[in-house]
Amino acid sequence: MVATRSPVIKAALEAAVRAPSPHNSQPWIFELAQDVVDLVLDEERILEVCDPDGREARLACGAALFNMELAIAAAGRVADVELAPERDRPSLLARVKPGPRHRPSPAERRLVAAVPRRFSNRRPFTEQAVPPAVRSAMVQAAHEEGAGLVLLDEHGLLEPVAGLIRRADHIQNQDEAFRAELRVWAKGHGGDDGVPDFAGGPRSAGGLLPVRHFIGSEETRVFERDPLVAVLTTPSDGSLSQVRAGRAMQRVLLAATGAGMSASFYSQPMEIPSTRGELRALLGGADHPQTVFRLGYGYPGVPTPRRSIDAVVRERRVSR
Ligand SMILES: Cc1cc2nc3c(=O)[nH]c(=O)nc-3n(C[C@H](O)[C@H](O)[C@H](O)COP(=O)(O)O)c2cc1C
Repeated sequence: MVATRSPVIKAALEAAVRAPSPHNSQPWIFELAQDVVDLVLDEERILEVCDPDGREARLACGAALFNMELAIAAAGRVADVELAPERDRPSLLARVKPGPRHRPSPAERRLVAAVPRRFSNRRPFTEQAVPPAVRSAMVQAAHEEGAGLVLLDEHGLLEPVAGLIRRADHIQNQDEAFRAELRVWAKGHGGDDGVPDFAGGPRSAGGLLPVRHFIGSEETRVFERDPLVAVLTTPSDGSLSQVRAGRAMQRVLLAATGAGMSASFYSQPMEIPSTRGELRALLGGADHPQTVFRLGYGYPGVPTPRRSIDAVVRERRVSR
């Protein structure tokens, strides 16, 4: 066990591990040296089939980083963050330490309060429309982190992107390697990672937007008629852009949670190079799509488990 006596670091780590990750793989390690936290990509937890380049794992780590920054700010310190601090160690994504004293803003307090409440809601949402002001707030949240958020219905893109999601979903489900990987992470994997049954969603009647099917149940339900589906984009791609995209993704998800909304992901077209290219082309070909999610007003749910802090923290040798 790696002890930290700093309540700020403890709060940062507790927030970090609540980040979303593909199949709840939790692909992060936190190396501690006194009050400095190194966020390291755990390459052994990258999903070989869905995410061979580790792009989604870096998004997850970016989300964990954002949670850490928020928790440090909420604890009354500026989060001092250096991205990719060691050129020759690409798995070291960020170095974080509490900086000078800081008065947390009401927005920071709201976002940090949303960290333990956010969860992926794969069930149907209500028909309640997301008001224009809330839509704008989601777009603004992405902009604050240097990303874009394309609300598909505002661009006449829901149908074509939904078609892409269905096609990619079909391709993945034909692939035995994909199904085998999903089986490994479904049913709660080791109990403290993976996607437990209770977090799965039913199949969508009519099938406009196929939810990734983690559970054995064949239950079918009618989903909301006019889903709000959004694509998060970045102006460039690459390891650092993906970490930044993860930050933006998490800011949007927490802002949505704070506004009483739910979200769930549709990564199918992102995980196949050809459909990812098609998605980029549909969006105009300039920015890089990083993740696709649905926002709306869902029903309460239960957060999924995480590995303990002790399991994801190790000591950093400072002599390096
Ligand atoms: C980059 C990324 C991609 C994801 N893609 C999907 C997806 O395609 N389908 C899905 O149901 N969940 C997806 N998820 C959600 C994860 O399965 C979820 O975050 C994880 O199981 C932890 O649960 P929680 O979000 O409820 O905390 C994705 C999460 C991340 C970070």
